[in-house]
Amino acid sequence: MPYSDYRTALVTGASTGMGAAIVEQFRERGLEVHAVARDAERLRRLADETGAIPHAVDLADVDALERELGGLEIDVLVNNAGVSATGNILDASRATVDAMIDVNVGAVLHLARLLLPGMVERDLGHVINISSIAGRYNFFGHTAYHATKAAVGQISRQLRNDTVGKRIRVTEVCPGRVETEIFGRNLGGTPEALQQAWETYYEGYESLTTADIVSTVDFAVAAPRHVNLGLIEITPTFQVAGGLTFDRREA
Ligand SMILES: NC(=O)c1ccc[n+]([C@@H]2O[C@H](COP(=O)([O-])OP(=O)(O)OC[C@H]3O[C@@H](n4cnc5c(N)ncnc54)[C@H](OP(=O)(O)O)[C@@H]3O)[C@@H](O)[C@H]2O)c1
Repeated sequence: MPYSDYRTALVTGASTGMGAAIVEQFRERGLEVHAVARDAERLRRLADETGAIPHAVDLADVDALERELGGLEIDVLVNNAGVSATGNILDASRATVDAMIDVNVGAVLHLARLLLPGMVERDLGHVINISSIAGRYNFFGHTAYHATKAAVGQISRQLRNDTVGKRIRVTEVCPGRVETEIFGRNLGGTPEALQQAWETYYEGYESLTTADIVSTVDFAVAAPRHVNLGLIEITPTFQVAGGLTFDRREA
């Protein structure tokens, strides 16, 4: 489908990382873009630079979602916002589990509930869900992160069933490690935490960049209208999902 058939987009997690980069690309492609995140100041800067329309909304606040975004006519919905945490379920806090469920899954379902009926009515739309290889493979990330990202895969496939017979496309983009703030946020989000995360997770690795994710999203959205790219797994060349673990019992 020529990109030009789409007029509007909404991107969550737009204040930084992949979301901000996707907003820039969509604006260059000529879409009206609604940019959603909590940090109003960052969104304002993005709006100044790109002409995107900022919405400072907490995706965990369903009332705010309905109020601020419910009435919009959106052709391309990018569910990009996501949160993670260090550790696993053994040392999880109530707040981090709730945040992962609310942002990684709840908001995806609520935005589909609010915006997909309009796409169906107009017989035109594209939902891009950014999941993670954590949703497909087991490694030592947070239990709730793996679970919520697996749910994003299931939602993506189910939305295809919900809208079959209409010109609605759904693409799950499933990345491996990408250079963003996500690991630094897990360590507290301070400049020191971001630096520490950079040294631990990115220094010396050839990770993906946000530009790689933008190219992937662009490829899916620009594909001819009869083509639905359902699942795109993208990892750094040096990152593989291997490594079955067989630990010795501790004495
Ligand atoms: N980076 C990786 O290695 C990697 C790998 C695989 C998948 N992913 C996934 O890719 C997506 C983008 O991640 P990223 O790495 O670009 O993350 P990031 O740099 O940490 O950015 C996260 C974005 O989500 C927004 N956000 C978080 N909580 C929110 C809330 N309650 N309400 C509204 N917005 C919220 C943040 O904005 P505010 O703080 O301003 O609200 C920010 O814009 C996520 O779904 C992530 O799980 C990342």
